[in-house]
Amino acid sequence: MMKTQVGIVGGGPSGLLLAHLLHLEGVDSVVLEARSEEYVIDRVRAGVLEQGSVDLLDSVGLGARMHREGLVHHGVHIGFGGTRHRIDMHELTGGRAITVYGQNELQKDLNQARRATGRPLYYEVEQLALHEFESAAPQIRFRHAGSEHEIQCDFIAGCDGFHGISRPALPKSAVRCFEREYPFGWLGILAEASPASEELVYTWTERGFALFSMRSPRVTRLYLQCAPDEDIHAWPDDRIWEELLKRLSTADGWRPNVGPILQKGVTGMRSFVAEPMQFGRLFLAGDAAHIVPPTGAKGLNLAAADVYTLSRAVALYYRTGSDRLLQEYSSTSLRRVWRAQRFSWWMTSMLHVFRFGDDGAFDRRRQLAELDYLTSSRAAMTSLAENYVGFPILPGT
Ligand code: FAD
Ligand code: PHB
Repeated sequence: MMKTQVGIVGGGPSGLLLAHLLHLEGVDSVVLEARSEEYVIDRVRAGVLEQGSVDLLDSVGLGARMHREGLVHHGVHIGFGGTRHRIDMHELTGGRAITVYGQNELQKDLNQARRATGRPLYYEVEQLALHEFESAAPQIRFRHAGSEHEIQCDFIAGCDGFHGISRPALPKSAVRCFEREYPFGWLGILAEASPASEELVYTWTERGFALFSMRSPRVTRLYLQCAPDEDIHAWPDDRIWEELLKRLSTADGWRPNVGPILQKGVTGMRSFVAEPMQFGRLFLAGDAAHIVPPTGAKGLNLAAADVYTLSRAVALYYRTGSDRLLQEYSSTSLRRVWRAQRFSWWMTSMLHVFRFGDDGAFDRRRQLAELDYLTSSRAAMTSLAENYVGFPILPGT
């Protein structure tokens, strides 16, 4: 049996960043993660950090390696009709930017920061279950290294991602879920090839969407629109490159550099929100509460904003006894979540082909008109830029 102030379920970016923010406020926590340390660090996921996430990581002493190794981008390209159009986000937003820094690198930094505090972090926990979170004395039970454990805590933070157990633990009548599935997925690869463009390229083609991104000066990250249940075994490396080059090459001769494929996988796409993000003393954060399609690069950034808001609320509670910010946690977070939902849905709808045959012809022409407008109107480019670099997380930034 253990006692702590906040029991954190999930050791992904939400769980570990929350643990760090609470630690800096002098609040104790226990982090419980189902997978192994290596698995959590090695899985390939997000790459783009908004300005607000970068500012937050800086303010809590987690920015050093990100600034050394991350790539700051001031613009982004939108490709269609064989041409790339640059949107100068920096100029359009009064000096804001994004930073390309792999989620697994951030995960390493967070893991190390947690280890340095000496506070508990358990990997490979099993049979985790939440109890009595509608009371003032919640409990978490789990198995670890063959024995049963119980944690008594004041609050539980459900940071266990979309497939975790926290959201399903809420009574059905207490949550409303909003969902949209898309009729496509992304086939993503990491390739040992130097990035052929300094900035990301989001491309619409009649064959479907493709995205050019990167992880480092030696590693390119690429995605192509595929079926939601695409069989990765049907995609030998040659076929992947052939399709990527068809979609991404432009009339001026630009094309991504080709190299050995280091990793490949298929990701489904959905938009999802659970409301409210709190029930009793259980608070949901990050992917446990909401999912966005990756086109807007918002998922990790929303997770960072959620746990910042939650850490302020918990800190106020222990400092003054006031639960005002805890009561407001869900509505404060949901405002940003729905803005990001709208933006991610819009980017996804504009850039992917929903129907390939004749019955999709009208929509494809409409998409081209929208892309033409987006890349020729300063107002439209400003709207994309301010949403893409994101809204501030820290007050006054
Ligand atoms: P997760 O990262 O899912 O972490 C949850 C953790 O909880 C996991 O480690 C899981 O093992 C653990 N867990 C689950 N169940 C239990 C349990 N019962 N007990 C204990 N632990 C449990 N976002 C961006 O912002 N920018 C991008 O460019 C971007 N690109 C993406 C590309 C891809 C291909 C994918 C898949 C995602 C992308 N995202 C992006 C989204 C981003 O990766 C997620 O939003 C982010 O990982 C959310 O963090 P989280 O900690 O809330 O959830
Ligand atoms: C990535 O680099 O993995 C990435 C970049 C932008 C996105 C999604 C993923 O919108």
